[in-house]
Amino acid sequence: MTRIRFMPDDKWVTARGGQSVLDAARLARVPIRTRCQGRAACLMCKVHIEGEGIEPPSKQERLKLGVQEKNGLRLACQARVGRDSGADITVSVPEDRLKAIIRQKLLEQEDDSLW
Ligand code: FES
Repeated sequence: MTRIRFMPDDKWVTARGGQSVLDAARLARVPIRTRCQGRAACLMCKVHIEGEGIEPPSKQERLKLGVQEKNGLRLACQARVGRDSGADITVSVPEDRLKAIIRQKLLEQEDDSLW
């Protein structure tokens, strides 16, 4: 079993070996946008993954991501939790622009209320 932390929501879920990061995100109720239902076609499910407990990208995923893979980007629908992994993984999900703006405004309001 591997624990996955989804950021920026800071939600945790325990995943089985072989399970996709996209399926784990759904269990954690972390929304990751998709259009191809996990067939590695839409490239909308890109996430940044840190940690050793994830299987290396498949040939298909490497072809789809190109140089982006070298920057730690993976396709959540293709990235699979390692079979014998006990390590924690951190998955950063790019935020929707509108959600990022709202989060920033809320943080600014919190800062203002401290003064
Ligand atoms: S869900 Fe479409 S590429 Fe991953």
